[in-house]
Amino acid sequence: MIAVADLAVHYRDKCAFSGVNLSVPRGTVTALVGPSGCGKSSFLSCLNRLVDMVPGARASGRVELDGCDVLDPRLDLVAHRRRVGMIFQKPNPFPLSIRENIAFPLREHGARDVGERVEAALRAVGLWTEVNDRLDRPALGLSGGQQQRLCIARALALEPSVVLLDEPCSALDPIASGVVEDHVASLRGRYTVVIVTHNLAQARRIADHTAVFWVRGGVGYLAEHGATPQVFGSPRTDVAAAYVSGSRG
Ligand SMILES: Nc1ncnc2c1ncn2[C@@H]1O[C@H](COP(=O)(O)OP(=O)(O)OP(=O)(O)O)[C@@H](O)[C@H]1O
Ligand SMILES: [Mg+2]
Repeated sequence: MIAVADLAVHYRDKCAFSGVNLSVPRGTVTALVGPSGCGKSSFLSCLNRLVDMVPGARASGRVELDGCDVLDPRLDLVAHRRRVGMIFQKPNPFPLSIRENIAFPLREHGARDVGERVEAALRAVGLWTEVNDRLDRPALGLSGGQQQRLCIARALALEPSVVLLDEPCSALDPIASGVVEDHVASLRGRYTVVIVTHNLAQARRIADHTAVFWVRGGVGYLAEHGATPQVFGSPRTDVAAAYVSGSRG
């Protein structure tokens, strides 16, 4: 579903990563792992074109989503970002009520049946029973884990086909992290998921495929990509072997 060929990102004259070739089959979960600064977030930013928002940043190569050229300057960004939802490390609910966090973007996109879709989205992340008696209270009053699930619900309400997550659990306590992880795992099949995680055990638990990024001479690259059991069980490259065993990175 996603096909990436010879992708690179530059920030002015600094190359963040280059030469990345990767494909992501529909309905699967792919984990991106690797040491800090190897280009994982920059890679994700190409998939939803958030890279355009960074002054001086430039993506080159090819990214196809269902055959559509994602890096085409004429791409309809509003429609594209509706298809490609994004969840960040730090939960970022709007400073609005719980209900409006989901209803507002739905209305912006001209959706109908907003009330029903708010409920369905909250149910999908297990929040409905926790918050249905206080939908009009501020979302910022929720716990960190609840806020992150609300952000996932907000993304899912727009019915994306791809969900990108950049370390969605790393700002959460272990219990909230486990709950969010279970919801990410439950996206398999219905959504195509790419998740950046520093938690190798988490990648092992939830990812069908794992991509190990690495840095050489200050430039990130894709060191290894394969089925998760292969990458962890019989890595083909020395860096992936060292990284997954915890001896490097
Ligand atoms: N806005 C920016 N301007 C300049 N350089 C940047 C910018 N964002 C990232 N970089 C550089 O690009 C490289 C890759 O950064 P990126 O944030 O993609 O790495 P990462 O793998 O997500 O790291 P981390 O695990 O710490 O989040 C790094 O060298 C970083 O300093
Ligand atoms: Mg990052």
